[in-house]
Amino acid sequence: MVALPAAEHEPLLSARGLVKRFGQVQALQGADFTAYRGEVVALIGDNGAGKSTLVNLLSGVIAPDGGEIVLDGRPVRFSGPMDAQRQGVETVYQDLSLAPDLDAAANLYLGRELFRGGVLRPFKVLDRPAMRLAAVDAFAELGVSLKDVTVPVGALSGGQRQSVAVARAVAFARGVIFMDEPTAALGVVQRGRVLETVRRVRDRGVCVVLISHNMPEVLSVADRVEVLRLGRRVASFNAADTSIEELVGAMTGSLDGPAPTAGPAAGPGTGTGAGTGAGTGEGGAR
Ligand SMILES: Nc1ncnc2c1ncn2[C@@H]1O[C@H](COP(=O)(O)OP(=O)(O)O)[C@@H](O)[C@H]1O
Ligand SMILES: [Mg+2]
Repeated sequence: MVALPAAEHEPLLSARGLVKRFGQVQALQGADFTAYRGEVVALIGDNGAGKSTLVNLLSGVIAPDGGEIVLDGRPVRFSGPMDAQRQGVETVYQDLSLAPDLDAAANLYLGRELFRGGVLRPFKVLDRPAMRLAAVDAFAELGVSLKDVTVPVGALSGGQRQSVAVARAVAFARGVIFMDEPTAALGVVQRGRVLETVRRVRDRGVCVVLISHNMPEVLSVADRVEVLRLGRRVASFNAADTSIEELVGAMTGSLDGPAPTAGPAAGPGTGTGAGTGAGTGEGGAR
């Protein structure tokens, strides 16, 4: 395992005190999050803990009601997912967000199409051959053999569609990739391939944020684990130093007495609860 002396380098992406309300529901109540280059960080938590909301804020899908997002040392306010992508943040959404009528190659380049010809051409022409060649390479890297990258994605199997969504994010990844349950629809072999790809992308220096309910998978691929509960980060662990029991305990709050419920008391980083884990990425000690 790679040792990650988190305190010694700057986070690539961090969030402090993120708040998000949906009507009466406080989905995030001052959530923190930290991610470093060249690591796989798993984001775990029970249903409703706020994982998807956090990913949506950090990938520009929705805007926070409060708190701060810092990317590469600068505070950012994404105007939308394309803006986040331009700044190096890719996402594999849980619903995959593919265009079912377009083929795998077109999906790979959706919104970032390659064009033929120079800037002086009056009409831009899509460079389909180049996109298809690149698509074949991208899928080969994932270990996926799509017989035909010209078949509409809607006609593929669930596992193949999931691979297309992963390939799309991986092909353009520069900074951070969020993956919301990327292996959920996959069989054993393809699941292993996606996890290999996650490691390979990580080794390229990209930060992969993996949301997963599969604790053995989390422990096998993640370098760090951050735990959300009731809209807050309650713990952060080095994967090498923790166990499934400890992760589940942090998710459910069973290891740390009363859960930090919606009371007014707890500010960000109060350091109570299960947050002692490996101590990485938590707010300053106080
Ligand atoms: N668009 C929405 N409208 C209303 N409530 C929402 C919306 N999105 C999320 N929530 C609520 O916010 C809380 C956190 O949800 P979510 O971020 O999806 O959690 P998770 O992904 O960890 O299961 C839940 O109580 C959920 O019902
Ligand atoms: Mg979710």
